[in-house]
Amino acid sequence: MRILGITDGQTSGAAVIEDGRVLAAVNEERIGRIKMARGFPWESIREVLKLTATDPKDLGGVAMAQVDMELREEVVGWPGWFEARAEEKDLHTKFFQVASRFGGLVPKVPGLMKAYYALRSPAFAHRRKRIEEILREDFGITAKVRWFHHHYAHATSAYYTSRFDDALVVTMDGGGDGHCSHVYSVKGGHFKKLNTADAYDSLGNYYAYVTAICGFKAKRHEGKITGLAARGKPAFRELFESMIGCEDGHLVNRGQVLFKKAMERIVERLPSDWAREDLACTVQLVAEQVAREYVAHWARVSGHRNVALAGGLFANVRINEEIHHLPEVDNLFIHPGMADEGLAVGAGLAYWGSEQRKAGVPYEPPGMDHVYLGNEYGEKDISLALRDAGLEFDHLPGRLESEVGERLAAGRVVARFSGRMEYGPRALGNRTIMYQPGDPSVNDWLNELLKRTEFMPFAPSALYEATDQLFEEPKGVLDTARFMTTTLHCTPWMTERCGGVVHVDGTARPQLVRQEDNASYWRIIEEYRRRTGVPAIINTSFNVHEEPIVRTPDDAIRAFLDSALDYLAIGDFLAKGPVGSDATRKKWEGRSKWGNAAHAPTAR
Ligand SMILES: [Fe+2]
Repeated sequence: MRILGITDGQTSGAAVIEDGRVLAAVNEERIGRIKMARGFPWESIREVLKLTATDPKDLGGVAMAQVDMELREEVVGWPGWFEARAEEKDLHTKFFQVASRFGGLVPKVPGLMKAYYALRSPAFAHRRKRIEEILREDFGITAKVRWFHHHYAHATSAYYTSRFDDALVVTMDGGGDGHCSHVYSVKGGHFKKLNTADAYDSLGNYYAYVTAICGFKAKRHEGKITGLAARGKPAFRELFESMIGCEDGHLVNRGQVLFKKAMERIVERLPSDWAREDLACTVQLVAEQVAREYVAHWARVSGHRNVALAGGLFANVRINEEIHHLPEVDNLFIHPGMADEGLAVGAGLAYWGSEQRKAGVPYEPPGMDHVYLGNEYGEKDISLALRDAGLEFDHLPGRLESEVGERLAAGRVVARFSGRMEYGPRALGNRTIMYQPGDPSVNDWLNELLKRTEFMPFAPSALYEATDQLFEEPKGVLDTARFMTTTLHCTPWMTERCGGVVHVDGTARPQLVRQEDNASYWRIIEEYRRRTGVPAIINTSFNVHEEPIVRTPDDAIRAFLDSALDYLAIGDFLAKGPVGSDATRKKWEGRSKWGNAAHAPTAR
């Protein structure tokens, strides 16, 4: 039975699931070219149905993620949490402002949160009715529509794509359907809920407040805070520990504040000369501590030693490494689309899982073989796009990988567009920019070419076979590290040779590439290793500035030319850029801000 999963909130999208396997998954942002686009995913639904050749009439069910939310039929961008509220004058925003002002009353007035959601419920009911109408009238979908709680959809995305039979499943995010976390004990596909945390007690929100206070967009640029954190000191630990904590397995908003009020409270307690690195470092360490205590508590209570995670908080690769090192945890899996972009997959899997239980089918973990679940283009489309752009190119079937390995070894930057587009926030080889990993200044000049501000070094794609040579204690995360979902501490060998990808705290966030997951990408890294002895390359997503990852050959060519990269490996073609990266590189020679982790002072 084929199931269509849909999410229509932030980073909306759609997925098609069959027999517990994800056949296609796409997010609206890639098609509309609007980063983290929210709203009803019209184009994603069309795309996944087309990719899987599914007749809408043959669908066995539709799974909608999130029960309580206002409908947004048009697709719009996500300017940042507070910016989105300022732009909008709808009822939801008014409620948000009131909630911000009266957040302190929540623990004192029983039922206040419930009343808040009850007041908004007519708008939620309208969304549910209207979406069923849209599916019927605009898509010809008559299958039964089922609605899944935001956090249950996160939980099912994590559990069913892990290879665990029994597991502790923990979800954590800013908030969705009134909650910021669910905890489940799962065995053989049967979920038993152990804990629910109200959105009021959200750890993710405190991280978002700091993102905004540091001048970035909340619920969009949290990765910048994670990168900055390694360069600061935990100077405001006491302040944050008085705001948010974990007590006996429960998240507690000790500050009793929300939204703008919470930011005001933090800022008024900071000294006038606070440094954003220190604020970032503090919130990161406190978030690690709270998440560690929370997961450890429920791991002890449940007795599970396998842990599966999803929810926006687990986009934080350092938190994930901390959970991996808990004495209570043997094996860890993080869903590759861990934030809300993964809710369509999660809802689809929730629907499938419930049908399996109903039918009494013994549970077989479907796992996740790969994330190449988007669209792909054939030779004809690609060569046409190259010709249209006036680029010179060679057709190199069977030897493209060795030619690319050669160029990487010669220090050139090569963008790669190949096969099906990745699902989830990370580029994992098919829409990727590649470079050799030994040059620490790459983080300056390549970010400048790509028009990005980043504080985290680029990530490495490494041969799976070389894991032990490159990383300390990878046991228990080998499956999840295929998707760049956790940091690992690097070996001295790696730190010495791969200065461009090792952070000042001695970690990197690798993609471990197995031959069976992506044969062509694996071969490129192998060709590079053959020439240099280093079994890893830099992999940064193929996009420019704040745009989503490229989707079509035209997107790829535009981003390639815009960034003045050296080569474009697209399908079996290799094109040379007209400009090249040398001028920008030269500018940064000898004045890199990054330095090699081997010689950097340790911030922790
Ligand atoms: Fe979420």
